[in-house]
Amino acid sequence: MKECTILVTGGAGYIGSHTVIELLNNNCQVIIVDDLSNSNKKVLDRIEKITGVHPIFYPISICDKDALSLIFTTHKINAVIHFAAFKAVGESVQKPLDYYKNNVSGCLLLLQIMQEYSVKTIVFSSSATVYGQPKEVPVKENSKISPQSPYGFTKMMIEQILTDIYHADKSWNIAILRYFNPVGAHRSGLIGENPNGIPNNLMPYIAQVATGKLDYLQIFGNDYITKDGTGVRDYIHVVDLAIGHIKALKYFDFKSKVGQMITLNLGTGIGCSVLDVVKTFEKASGKSIPYKILPRRSGDVAEYYADATLAKQVLGFQTRFNLDDMCCDTWRWQINNPEGY
Ligand code: NAD
Ligand code: WQD
Repeated sequence: MKECTILVTGGAGYIGSHTVIELLNNNCQVIIVDDLSNSNKKVLDRIEKITGVHPIFYPISICDKDALSLIFTTHKINAVIHFAAFKAVGESVQKPLDYYKNNVSGCLLLLQIMQEYSVKTIVFSSSATVYGQPKEVPVKENSKISPQSPYGFTKMMIEQILTDIYHADKSWNIAILRYFNPVGAHRSGLIGENPNGIPNNLMPYIAQVATGKLDYLQIFGNDYITKDGTGVRDYIHVVDLAIGHIKALKYFDFKSKVGQMITLNLGTGIGCSVLDVVKTFEKASGKSIPYKILPRRSGDVAEYYADATLAKQVLGFQTRFNLDDMCCDTWRWQINNPEGY
């Protein structure tokens, strides 16, 4: 990885910023492209505080072909990690065109430019959302793909585009990483998830209940056929997830003319219920988390968690952090930054 230059689209965002830190820890040169549509420029100073390096930053959209091309002309890029996308499932139902344009068209432009400049290594942020309502758990990579939202379809479409590119030209290196539920924050408490407005997702919502910013947690359903009736998910610490990207890059042999394509789940393989998360967060924060039980949230799945064996076999990827760590690190980030960045 030394002397590698990695372009990180969406590198100012939640998962991107944690991955940038791991890349810098591995002595890579990092170039961030982010239009700051869902992030804050201050993250760059925080990255510098943690690593001593201020990454090169271009505040542009991946949809701006000329500006993106110029970056490939200016720098000798070895690989791209592509995080830049809109990610809110509900919003994607309201604004499908915005999602297809930003996520799919944006990615197409990026891939065209990569091809033009012979940069043929990409790690792509996919999501367990592509599985939709899984028939069985744990979910394996060869389970049926059946997204339930425009957001999920953008991920499925890009997976297909990448597959077709690889079939046409086997010198590409392509890693499709399907994340389960990323949570937690960097141990320093300097970077973390920074949602705009009221959070949609469980962990940032609980964190804001713990600080008193929100009154109580709404638990969406306690009548699922799960261990305690609440929804079960596979929460993965964002730093473990970030390390998964480094392992994917290391898997590729940049010098070989023959490429490889891999599609892997990144999860812990462990299912935790909403009540597990509530109890663990209470222990981590020393605060009580009041909650009310509401009806099920439309579109929610009762239970899903990863079959994590393939990522272990292929990449040697194993998570290090448990739910206690995820809650402690979220709490540290939240109390240090009650208003975000
Ligand atoms: P995020 O919103 O924090 O990060 C995405 C970043 O991309 C943001 O900084 C945003 O400003 C930037 N961006 C968006 N559109 C852009 C564009 N056109 N040009 C340049 N920058 C753009 O989200 P995240 O949680 O860090 O997610 C990163 C990736 O992982 C996304 O592709 C997301 O779909 C995927 N993913 C996230 C989760 C999750 O729960 N967080 C789960 C599975 C997959
Ligand atoms: C987790 C559990 C809820 C909030 C989403 C996206 C998915 C992926 C990850 C991008 C569920 C319950 C939640 C609350 C609750 N993102 N919950 N009260 O829905 O598994 O996945 O993020 O790719 O595509 O759909 O995550 O954190 O919203 O929910 O009871 O206020 O917590 O019902 O059981 P989800 P989540």
